[in-house]
Amino acid sequence: MIYLDNAATSWPKPEAVYRTMDTFLREKGANPGRSGHDMAVAAEKVVEETRVLLARLLNAPDEKDIIFTLNCTDSLNLSLKGLLKPGDHVITSSISHNSLTRPLRRLEHEGVKVTRLLPCSEEGFVSPQDIEQAIGPNTRLIAVTHASNVSGVIQPIEEFGEVAKRHDIALLVDAAQTVGTLPIDVQATNVDLLAFAGHKGLLGPTGTGGLYMSKRVEPEPLKEGGTGTVSESEEQPSGRPYMYESGTPNTVGIAALGEGLRYLMSRTLADIQTHKKTLLDRLLDGLAAIPGITVYGPRDRARRLSVAPFNIERWSPDEVGAVLDQAFDIKVRAGLHCAPAAHKVLGTYPHGCVRASVSCFNTLDEIDFLLGALEKIAGTEPPRLTADKTQSSSVSAH
Ligand code: ALA
Repeated sequence: MIYLDNAATSWPKPEAVYRTMDTFLREKGANPGRSGHDMAVAAEKVVEETRVLLARLLNAPDEKDIIFTLNCTDSLNLSLKGLLKPGDHVITSSISHNSLTRPLRRLEHEGVKVTRLLPCSEEGFVSPQDIEQAIGPNTRLIAVTHASNVSGVIQPIEEFGEVAKRHDIALLVDAAQTVGTLPIDVQATNVDLLAFAGHKGLLGPTGTGGLYMSKRVEPEPLKEGGTGTVSESEEQPSGRPYMYESGTPNTVGIAALGEGLRYLMSRTLADIQTHKKTLLDRLLDGLAAIPGITVYGPRDRARRLSVAPFNIERWSPDEVGAVLDQAFDIKVRAGLHCAPAAHKVLGTYPHGCVRASVSCFNTLDEIDFLLGALEKIAGTEPPRLTADKTQSSSVSAH
């Protein structure tokens, strides 16, 4: 089996991630910060160690500014709904994932004004000048996606941060695809809110994510409840990080996320980036050489992540995805990738495209196998898909 759906969630995970989920639950599976016994204290220590590692990775000045959440969507919802009030204005781009688009649409129905900027190029880049021009007296937030999960286009968040700082407006970055893949320094880039997933580039399990919050912003918590602190009070306590972390956390997930971070840090982000770039170069060169394949995304490979979106003439993306899965045992994601607006910019709406996305564990042999499969598919007539997306295809691996 070849797994090339790492933009959805990374797989496999480092061995230590699997091992830790097992040993943590067996040996330290108590409720952190709630009880005083040694098992609860050990669980809390592991959670806090992961928080420190995340702060170090992002160059956050204080680990208390890292809030654990369930995933990037959770972090974006907390940022947007915790911060914006009716009458506030927010600037975003029209190529965002639904995790930004949908909460913003809901807030718009409740009286928040939203400006959606079109990218300044067909490659999907958003212009810092366009952001600056859209700023008005009530602009409270600039909310942007760091890198598209569809095209991989990497936005210049440093320049967005300069605009935000100049106008004293908070900057929220959806870093679902970039944390653990690109180096990010939240202080140097003036990012106030950085939302991320634990299960993608950070190589942790699903159900983990986080939000970095600078001291300049103070979103309202979206939930109240037990924090293990100030238990005598019926009011939600105010200290970070626990004011945002009511309820028993995903301790086993956070413990395993810590191992994903240790793996990344020991192998180094630079080494991983170089490896992924080698895979992407082989993939993009190979795709360009197959007649009938159209590849999307920025031409400048230094400004794109290691995702390759493409279509094959005459074939629908779903058909290609299904044949890759069933005839070749290759896992990719086809369709709209929860980001219809990004597909509109690429010109691939409403059917979308096929997306292959690599991780630090993929190999050049796997890329070559994918390219061989695609060459066979492109040289064959598409099967007819049934409603449940199964088909009989004349393409086979042998
Ligand atoms: N947003 C994730 C993806 O790109 C799930 O597939």
